[in-house]
Amino acid sequence: MDQVKRKAKPPEVSIELVEDQLSISDLNDLCDATDAAIDAGGGFGWVELPARDILERYWQGVVTMPARKLIIGRLDGAICGTAQITMPPNNNQAQAHAAQLNSIFVAPWARQYGLARMIVEHAEKVARDAEFKVLNMDVRETQTAAIALYEGMGYVHIGSHPFYANVSGEYIAGRYYYKVIDPQ
Ligand SMILES: CC(C)(COP(=O)(O)OP(=O)(O)OC[C@H]1O[C@@H](n2cnc3c(N)ncnc32)[C@H](O)[C@@H]1OP(=O)(O)O)[C@@H](O)C(=O)NCCC(=O)NCCS
Repeated sequence: MDQVKRKAKPPEVSIELVEDQLSISDLNDLCDATDAAIDAGGGFGWVELPARDILERYWQGVVTMPARKLIIGRLDGAICGTAQITMPPNNNQAQAHAAQLNSIFVAPWARQYGLARMIVEHAEKVARDAEFKVLNMDVRETQTAAIALYEGMGYVHIGSHPFYANVSGEYIAGRYYYKVIDPQ
């Protein structure tokens, strides 16, 4: 009998700004994706896996904080990556034009689909819509994939910090970047 050859369906990818509380299944997916990224050594600051309730409270807190915006990426409906925009406090009028782009990660199982680029592009749009002109960001120098991503998207390296992070007792240098997202 002839074998029927089935083509794998290409994965569906989508990006969105989170504007409401996360549903229980989204929160679970987000915590699973975070766990997987921390396990793979790139957990945007987390070095050891936090307890599940701590991680859940962390993400619920991010969504409710007025100074943060959370952008998520989905692969076939499941949250698999994020970025955050941290806005300056009201007293910082001199830097009211600049926000921080941080906490970017994609779970290992969802990498190489172009999701991180789409998440960062969407974060830039969200920041522009909120009338920011500049995004600042920083990254450990060991995160070479992230560095290639940011430099490929026009982030300008402005300096390095030799004592940027400490992982298991070892200092790791960090790189600082900015990008003008709205030149007007
Ligand atoms: C960096 C990271 C977010 C990339 O996610 P991704 O969804 O696989 O990235 P994309 O598929 O969108 O790739 C976009 C670009 O990133 C760069 N890139 C991605 N993976 C790479 C790799 N393994 N090696 C080198 N460059 C890589 C490339 O420039 C790529 O562009 P190209 O496809 O035109 O070559 C992901 O590897 C990750 O989560 N790493 C750990 C966490 C981290 O380092 N976060 C940043 C700290 S703030």
